[in-house]
Amino acid sequence: IYHTPELTPTDTTPDCAIAVDVLRATTTIATALHAGAEAVQAFSDIDQLMQVSEQWLPEKRLRAGERGGSKVAGCDLGNSPLDCTPERVQGRRLFITTTNGTRALQRVQNAPVVLAAAMVNRQTVVKYLLEQKPETVWLVGSGWEGSYSLEDTACAGAIADSLISQTDHSLSDIAGNDEVIGALALYTQWKDKMLEMFHHASHGQRLLRLNGHEDLKYCAQADSLDVLPIQKEPGVLVKKF
Ligand code: MLT
Repeated sequence: IYHTPELTPTDTTPDCAIAVDVLRATTTIATALHAGAEAVQAFSDIDQLMQVSEQWLPEKRLRAGERGGSKVAGCDLGNSPLDCTPERVQGRRLFITTTNGTRALQRVQNAPVVLAAAMVNRQTVVKYLLEQKPETVWLVGSGWEGSYSLEDTACAGAIADSLISQTDHSLSDIAGNDEVIGALALYTQWKDKMLEMFHHASHGQRLLRLNGHEDLKYCAQADSLDVLPIQKEPGVLVKKF
């Protein structure tokens, strides 16, 4: 587990990298693909997003931009997963840039397999890992501008918890991996009150100040979407069938 894009190594890659931004980028990405978006293309830079998306017909694209939790002027959407309804996103490509989540995706885009995970699609991600059995897996939290985030770490713990409980592994198999043991403990403490945990988290509080209560509720619903966002080419995620 790496807690922020900044802490994630650049000189080596795992077999499978999983970007996690529970509040809210990877929840939004999973929701858009589940609702029928043809792909989600992630950018760390807004100008680059505008330039690339300009080449698409307006009816085939949607631009989502978030900075500091708020919508970026000139974009169609902010980063609320609740905006990604089938009516809005079906058949379109979502071009998205967010403060931290799209940077986490960019940081790991050279790994042979890149996935996006959140609480909403946790079980689908775990199913993929159990089937494909990649040897090395990185869980990359998006954090907030270089610092630790409670909800991304808890989601990493939720993935680890489900993996361990569906295999014949035990805690002793991860002895020495302090990051995973810590994430598991965090998840175990909050698993039945994820929404309450979001209310305690710094970014949860930021979103609440921006009237994001419904977003928090949505993002807290564990295993509610059967969708696996998987990278098809650098920066472009599609739904794996
Ligand atoms: C991010 O990338 O930092 C987040 O997804 C912020 C947000 O809640 O929009």
